[in-house]
Amino acid sequence: MTSTIERGAATAEVRRVPPTSKKPAPDRPARGRRPGLLGTSNGRKAVMAVTGAVLVLFLIGHMLGNLKIFLGAESFNSYAEWLRTVGEPAVPGRALLTITEIGLVAAVVLHMWSAVSLARRARRARPVKYAARRRSQAGGYVVHTMRYGGVVILLFVIWHLLDLTFGTVNPKGFHATPYDRVVAGFDPSRWWVTAFYIAALVMVGLHLRHGMWSAFQTLGLANGRRRHLLRGFAAGFAAVLVLGFLSVPIAVMIGVVK
Ligand code: HEM
Repeated sequence: MTSTIERGAATAEVRRVPPTSKKPAPDRPARGRRPGLLGTSNGRKAVMAVTGAVLVLFLIGHMLGNLKIFLGAESFNSYAEWLRTVGEPAVPGRALLTITEIGLVAAVVLHMWSAVSLARRARRARPVKYAARRRSQAGGYVVHTMRYGGVVILLFVIWHLLDLTFGTVNPKGFHATPYDRVVAGFDPSRWWVTAFYIAALVMVGLHLRHGMWSAFQTLGLANGRRRHLLRGFAAGFAAVLVLGFLSVPIAVMIGVVK
């Protein structure tokens, strides 16, 4: 039997397959007990949206900070130094940066936890399995982009920290200035590093575009004429962020920053 499912602007052709198991979803609360906020799908969606928003704010700040490289080595290095010493002498050196780092790690962990648990819950709760020939947003393309894209972004961040924060995999090592590490890290001889950054940043862009769009839908904002506007906004925002980030490795590659 086939039918058409509407989800937002998306349509997907599905073939109904009888359920294989009658077991209740294991994370469904016992009868008579109400789940806490984090036990509900809406609670987990809220965690995903709030942590996603924290990460987006970090990305905006990080991208704008990176653009200082176009003002020269001194400007970029003093910005990096300011990040480490901000709040001094009211708080010990690096204190605010360390708090921000802990907040970022917590945001990433909670974001991944809510994404994985919501996906598992949706799979278990679905009474009818889809053997789908999907054509658009609602289909496998988005699921793959979000799931595998998320993994690529995580691997990228690990490489990125070893490269530009700790200097472990950077030709200049830990003791060089941040400017020198960036210039050495994206040297044309290491074109594969730049290629990896480009691939990872495209993933960041796609992840961001879909994540924002989903958040708008969850919040009930994406109705009527606003639908196209918000969709365009999510795509435009993601594109500007990615291009801002990419401008740095590309400028080093072509010798504008050296
Ligand atoms: C081409 C794009 C990027 C460049 C040139 C770049 C550059 C840098 C540099 C130079 C640092 C070290 C700052 C310092 O130690 O003073 C840094 C740190 C960091 N970057 Fe990036 N970054 C880029 C993209 C990204 C993206 C897309 C993400 C996240 C998805 C990211 C996440 C981080 C994190 C988490 C840190 C560590 C912050 C800290 O705790 O000190 N970066 N980046």
